[in-house]
Amino acid sequence: MALAEAEYSVPETATIVSERPDLDEAERAALTARIKALLEERDAVLVAHYYVDSSLQRIAEETGGCIADSLEMARFGKEHPATTLVVAGVRFMGETAKILSPEKRVLMPTLKAECSLDLGCPPDAFRAFREQHPDRTAVVYSNTSVAVKALSDYVVTSSIAVPLVEWLRDQGRKILWAPDRHLGDYIRRETGADMVLWDGSCVVHDEFRSRELEKLRKAHPAAAVLVHPESPRDVILQADVVGSTSQLIAAVRDRPESEFIVATDNRIFYKMQQAAPQKRLIEAPTGGHSATCRSCAHCPWMAMNDLTSLAHTLEHGGDEIFVDEEERVKALTATQRMLDFAAAHRRRVLGDA
Ligand code: 13P
Ligand code: SF4
Repeated sequence: MALAEAEYSVPETATIVSERPDLDEAERAALTARIKALLEERDAVLVAHYYVDSSLQRIAEETGGCIADSLEMARFGKEHPATTLVVAGVRFMGETAKILSPEKRVLMPTLKAECSLDLGCPPDAFRAFREQHPDRTAVVYSNTSVAVKALSDYVVTSSIAVPLVEWLRDQGRKILWAPDRHLGDYIRRETGADMVLWDGSCVVHDEFRSRELEKLRKAHPAAAVLVHPESPRDVILQADVVGSTSQLIAAVRDRPESEFIVATDNRIFYKMQQAAPQKRLIEAPTGGHSATCRSCAHCPWMAMNDLTSLAHTLEHGGDEIFVDEEERVKALTATQRMLDFAAAHRRRVLGDA
């Protein structure tokens, strides 16, 4: 059902540089200063994902923006009083911001920043999948289009997927899941829920290699292994912690080990190092810089966010997110359910519900 990788185009990582080499330090400093001034002039706030370049993460830190996982990006954008949200990440993150805040202007450094999960789950094929399973509750990953969210009952991100599906399971619901097959498989194993899975994958996390990881673990026996659940099952099974990007950063900060093998996009190291400067971070092995490696632990679409494109969108406003209003309203129901569940879950976990 899912589109194979060959059916959509993945930018070659080698041709993408997250920071333009033609910019010297003075030019980078000037662009940074210009971006900061434009954020203020435009009443805009920068909402960045952990996978974008550290130069953008730093601007978000220094201007009162946020650097977060996809759940927190959604929440922060909705609650922030700025009239313009500048979302540095991939398109579904900008669209989620627009779903939740239609009254705000949502800009992105580039609308070309896609996601293989979103591209591999076209709305028409997803609708047909739903129609084959009318008795199931459709739970979709946030890494999908507005149209797919509009066809669904619940949206989830990796930080809330397991408790939300557990809750549905306890109500006797059977689940239809899309699009990431590894995350779906992980949720099914964790919850024991009855789940039918779409066959999509992330071009970055699908590259982590279990055999090579075993070897690396032998070389670093004291290291804890941190894995994002979009990774293949054999990689997840070797993990000490499986979690969303923010959960993996918290693990580096809170766990006693001084070494960590990290199976997720390597731009997350910026925040991990900040959280625990004395700890050693080691990249989990991918398919290697060979013909099979399309990502090499850095998302080729996240890499399209850079100082130049960020300055350009703030200056000219060209890369703005617009969504169909009818679809937005339908997608809002499924997305708002996630935010409401996450808020209630947080209260339950903190014990103050
Ligand atoms: P998080 O929600 O964990 O930040 O993941 C988003 C994503 O696209 C991971 O590849
Ligand atoms: Fe999509 Fe994977 Fe990139 Fe995340 S890392 S945005 S799941 S392609």
